[in-house]
Amino acid sequence: MDFSVVISLGYVVASGLFIFGLKMLGSPATARKGNMISAVGMLIAIVVALLDQGIVEFQWILGGMVVGGAIGAIAARAVAMTSMPEMVALFNGLGGAASLLVGWAALAPDATTFTLVTIVLSILIGGITLTGSLIAYGKLSEKLASGAITFTGQQIVNTLIIAGVVGSAVMFCIEPANTSWLYAVIGLSLVFGIMVVIPIGGADMPVVISLLNSYSGLAACAAGFAIDNNVLIVAGSLVGASGIILTQIMCKAMNRSLSNVLFSGFASVSNEVTEIDGEIKPINAEDAYYILEAATNVAIIPGYGMAVAQAQHVVKELADLLEANGAEVNFGIHPVAGRMPGHMNVLLAEADVPYDQLLEMDEINPRMESVDVAIVIGANDVVNPAAREIESSPIYGMPVINVADARTVFVLKRSMASGFAGIENPLFYKENTRMIFGDAKETLSKLVRELAG
Ligand code: TAP
Repeated sequence: MDFSVVISLGYVVASGLFIFGLKMLGSPATARKGNMISAVGMLIAIVVALLDQGIVEFQWILGGMVVGGAIGAIAARAVAMTSMPEMVALFNGLGGAASLLVGWAALAPDATTFTLVTIVLSILIGGITLTGSLIAYGKLSEKLASGAITFTGQQIVNTLIIAGVVGSAVMFCIEPANTSWLYAVIGLSLVFGIMVVIPIGGADMPVVISLLNSYSGLAACAAGFAIDNNVLIVAGSLVGASGIILTQIMCKAMNRSLSNVLFSGFASVSNEVTEIDGEIKPINAEDAYYILEAATNVAIIPGYGMAVAQAQHVVKELADLLEANGAEVNFGIHPVAGRMPGHMNVLLAEADVPYDQLLEMDEINPRMESVDVAIVIGANDVVNPAAREIESSPIYGMPVINVADARTVFVLKRSMASGFAGIENPLFYKENTRMIFGDAKETLSKLVRELAG
């Protein structure tokens, strides 16, 4: 068989594995296998590229694979689950940087106009992705202020940058020999990446991360056209398309349009003080136990605080004890609970909570009125009734889990501090709400001890 046919077949197999892997990521039950299948696809793609001597000498690919693989493996082991979103942001940024470099390296004196356009696109999108992701990383890891950063004349500066980058890109395609245009595209796209992400507030970061993920795919796709590599085009398109779909899902979960997220400066209005009626009613774990013991239907609503407290295993213990006590137990999962898509699903899967106990927001909300006790574990924004009740609230209209409809609500958190969106939560003041202050893991351990005893 012709060697080039083997190479092409290898690329087709790798692309097929990417598609199957991606499909399997759609359900928690198959996600692990999907991840493995995609990784095997990537290995095949690298090996085939290694054999495809036309692209680059194999020592470079081998070296890149070993160094990149080692960094990836160490990072995946060392990074705490709570820091995963930051890591995803960094990986997106590096994907953008790789596309920028590949596009740049593809520049040859005899390049056709089509190749020049793909080069400029991979540099432009790759550059925006690189610096945009670094800013997102800074905001998520709280190395930068997580609020929106705005200044007077921002729109004018942005318009000038866009005009500059488009003008330089066009000039580069007309006069590729004049490298100043290329450097202008690189510099301006890097600056634009920063400008795009700084005005976006912390609470909107999930959308930004998935959008940047999509950009990194589009940049890779353009780089694939620039170097005429089919598997890069396929993988880039898959990442680009899935990132856009995820972005849409996130926007829907927050009831906001993408343009609203990108241009409205959410956090700038979130400091508004609202008057809330009612009073805080704290109870301790011992008293909470008596109410829980009598409950026949319990809903557990986890949020970012469960991840911080690493309370997923003790939550599972509590759920098992409640079931042994005759109660029906379900988990209500909000699509943007935590700090990354699927955050709660991943943690609860780690603790072996059965998938059929995990109910999405739309499934659990209609059942909430029949729930005896809703236990909110380190969740805040995603259970904030202001989204339904207070029209002036910045999260008004965002779909939330209606825990206040349950007979009794326990809220487990350490203080009266607000959540990621930085706004007050009227749930804490409701007649049927009891606050159990303290670290979620400690509180849950006390409840487990009481129930087990
Ligand atoms: P948040 O609204 O951020 O609230 C988390 C709560 O956990 C805080 O109120 C905090 O209160 C509590 N907490 C922290 N550590 C704790 C501990 N050790 N023990 C007990 N409680 C603890 O979380 P959420 O309800 O999950 O909402 C997610 C928010 O993040 C949304 O605004 C969403 O838009 C945003 N976001 C989501 C994503 C994705 S994709 N999921 C990504 C980025 C941002 P105390 O400090 O008083 O304990």
